[in-house]
Amino acid sequence: MKRQQIVAGNWKMNKDYEEGRDLTKGIVDAMQPSDTLVILGTPYIHLMNVSRIIKDISNVHLAAQNCHQEESGAYTGEVSAPMLKSCGVGYVILGHSERRAYFHEDDELIAKKVDAVLANGMQPIYCCGEPLEVREDGKQNELVAEQVKTALFHLSKEDFSKIVIAYEPVWAIGTGKTASPEQAQEMHAHIRKLVREQYDDATADGLSILYGGSVKPGNAKELFSQEDVDGGLIGGASLKAKDFVAIVNSF
Ligand code: 13P
Repeated sequence: MKRQQIVAGNWKMNKDYEEGRDLTKGIVDAMQPSDTLVILGTPYIHLMNVSRIIKDISNVHLAAQNCHQEESGAYTGEVSAPMLKSCGVGYVILGHSERRAYFHEDDELIAKKVDAVLANGMQPIYCCGEPLEVREDGKQNELVAEQVKTALFHLSKEDFSKIVIAYEPVWAIGTGKTASPEQAQEMHAHIRKLVREQYDDATADGLSILYGGSVKPGNAKELFSQEDVDGGLIGGASLKAKDFVAIVNSF
């Protein structure tokens, strides 16, 4: 079964309005037609405009980087799933390690956000991954299994089939230190095995699992050539059109 290959950019808290427009146009202009699904994960202020710029390009989609678990209400400063949907958002990055570390999100909360995103017809990009001390203890498989089970395994098979998982070891994010292709492959195979045990072969074989953490044009090809690595979630290198498109072209 051929899985969907995906390259998703996570701009994090970068780019003002004009810079975001220029980056999007730069990416769109440099892209060659391909079967790879390209997702731009922008701050909220860019969503409407990026959605307009990419609307005629069938393989380019829009992601938000978070959303609130409730549909509406007195939650000053928050943005809900129905609001994102109304801006043309197709994907929502959830459970990023920066949100876990700085905004105290845990997998019980992330599970609620997953439900909100699915209930509104969008697809979660669920991030998991271990901090350095857990890797040094050799406990990364247990931790990631716990994350995935708590946040996702309450879902029906039908809902689970809409999930994209991103494995992002915390020690590789923004550090220039990439997981080796073997380390990425080992964890991706582990995640796919968990999904196979919980659901079935078709669900496990259809799941796109992205690697994130210091992916660059120079290392993307080798990472993406691993059997269970179906693409990448790109931070720093998604902020330059040339680098991001070079990563898209690594497949
Ligand atoms: P970097 O590519 O900058 O390491 O960031 C990875 C990431 O956190 C993507 O979500």
